[in-house]
Amino acid sequence: MSKIKEDALIISQTREAAGTFRMRLKSPRIAAKARPGQFVMLQVREGPEPLLRRPFSFHAIALEEGVFDILYRVVGRGTWLLSQCPPGARLNILGPLGNGFDLPDGEPSLVFLAAGGIGIAPLVELMARLRESHPAVAMRLFYGARTAEEMIPTDAIESLGVTVHRSTDDGSAGYHGWVGELMKATAEAEGLKPEILFACGPLPMQRHIAKWALEKSVPAQLSLESLMACGLGACLGCALPATSSPTSDPAVREDHYLHVCKDGPIFPAGAIEWQKMQIHQTQPRIFPYS
Ligand code: FES
Repeated sequence: MSKIKEDALIISQTREAAGTFRMRLKSPRIAAKARPGQFVMLQVREGPEPLLRRPFSFHAIALEEGVFDILYRVVGRGTWLLSQCPPGARLNILGPLGNGFDLPDGEPSLVFLAAGGIGIAPLVELMARLRESHPAVAMRLFYGARTAEEMIPTDAIESLGVTVHRSTDDGSAGYHGWVGELMKATAEAEGLKPEILFACGPLPMQRHIAKWALEKSVPAQLSLESLMACGLGACLGCALPATSSPTSDPAVREDHYLHVCKDGPIFPAGAIEWQKMQIHQTQPRIFPYS
């Protein structure tokens, strides 16, 4: 799919939770092609610093108005500069990039979604599209954060008929513990097995969720993060270890990598060699949290 570069107009910038902002951008050509799970590379400001574009997933897309929203948390200089951008300013954007989520075929009766922290960002548009395409589907969102203050309001999500289960690391809202544990405990207690699972969040959470999905034979689409400098498959900075080998000779086992920007960011749970992920977990998180 062709990528578009355009100067997007900042329509609004609102605080959604502690350190978390929602920016609405008018960018008709990109909004027209955007799908949930895809992302844009955004130039925070012109000039030499910060040097690199930053990736942000689509949080909401309004095709008719030619706008889309990104949701981001301030974690460094780039996102701090972004939070200072006023409505009326313009930002250069490249996108849409990546593969996006696949909506389920057929009529699933139950879908699970799991979000860790700012990983809620791409799941909101996904839930809206799921409700449109599958009006009868039951959706359970498992939403975890470090504290209650870091959670965005979920009224709009609940108005879609989504049941929201919360967890926090400090116990200030919902279940006290990891969101993956909450999802597993809920499924077990209520005897639930979703037909499909979507997740976005930090890699340790995704590994936990992928393991459960593979054990339970639940098809899972995971939005993964990695270092991302170019967003175009050129710098190879976003590589994650893959389970399959590119060689056709089964006797030859070569390391094989997938690139989050080009092959993803959405991957099935079985595509990643999770055992080799420790080396990547030590790197700073950039996508989709930068
Ligand atoms: Fe450069 Fe993926 S970000 S190859």
